[in-house]
Amino acid sequence: MRPSSTDEVRKMYDETADSYALMMDTEIRLPVYADVLGRLRDRITNTTGAVVDTACGSGHMLSMYRERYDQKHALLGIDLSPRMVAIAEEKLGPEARVTVGDMRDLSFVEDESCSAVLNFFALHHVNSVDARLVFREWFRILGPGGQLVVATWEGDGAIDYGEESDIVALRYSGKEMAAWAEEAGFVITRCVVEPVEDFPMDAVYLEAVREALLTGQAG
Ligand SMILES: C[S@@+](CC[C@H](N)C(=O)[O-])C[C@H]1O[C@@H](n2cnc3c(N)ncnc32)[C@H](O)[C@@H]1O
Repeated sequence: MRPSSTDEVRKMYDETADSYALMMDTEIRLPVYADVLGRLRDRITNTTGAVVDTACGSGHMLSMYRERYDQKHALLGIDLSPRMVAIAEEKLGPEARVTVGDMRDLSFVEDESCSAVLNFFALHHVNSVDARLVFREWFRILGPGGQLVVATWEGDGAIDYGEESDIVALRYSGKEMAAWAEEAGFVITRCVVEPVEDFPMDAVYLEAVREALLTGQAG
């Protein structure tokens, strides 16, 4: 099964971005966001690279991260939808960089230049070959000790949007996600499957690190 094309996905989010942002004003208060972002802050305290959200949507996660946890790291938001980017830009202001882009091609982000990568509920829009490529891109842009935090819809087959949309998007299991992360070079620090309030699907929350290489050890 193939997910909807990039153009179809972009169009859907351009058309729904304003209502999505309103929904996120409430959704961001769910404890899971404070949980993952608080843990992220603790893990990157001693790093200097940017915190990048590679499907930032309306910018709510980056905004909460900055307001509640950390004003030190630069923020970069990337999203496929120009309307989402416009909303995120307004929310985050001139101190953050927000740009239209595709998480499958992060070539404009330098190798090992980031402290953290976030990606919540966007991997379902790419096929499994591209999802594996995306994990490799995330690994490439993270510096040693860099943290990855990903959430997606648990399971297999297509997501049922009912009457809401005819977009085709795919569920991936926690096991698959963990395997792709490890294949890209990450060490998994947390991978849990949990229900999401008011949603008919569970979510996978995966956290992983690009471990710093130990040097100076006798062979
Ligand atoms: C369900 S929203 C999640 C937004 C945000 N991460 C959040 O949790 O609020 C999915 C977002 O992924 C973006 N997206 C979909 N495919 C993408 C891709 N290939 N690269 C970057 N962003 C993508 C969409 O434009 C949309 O803003």
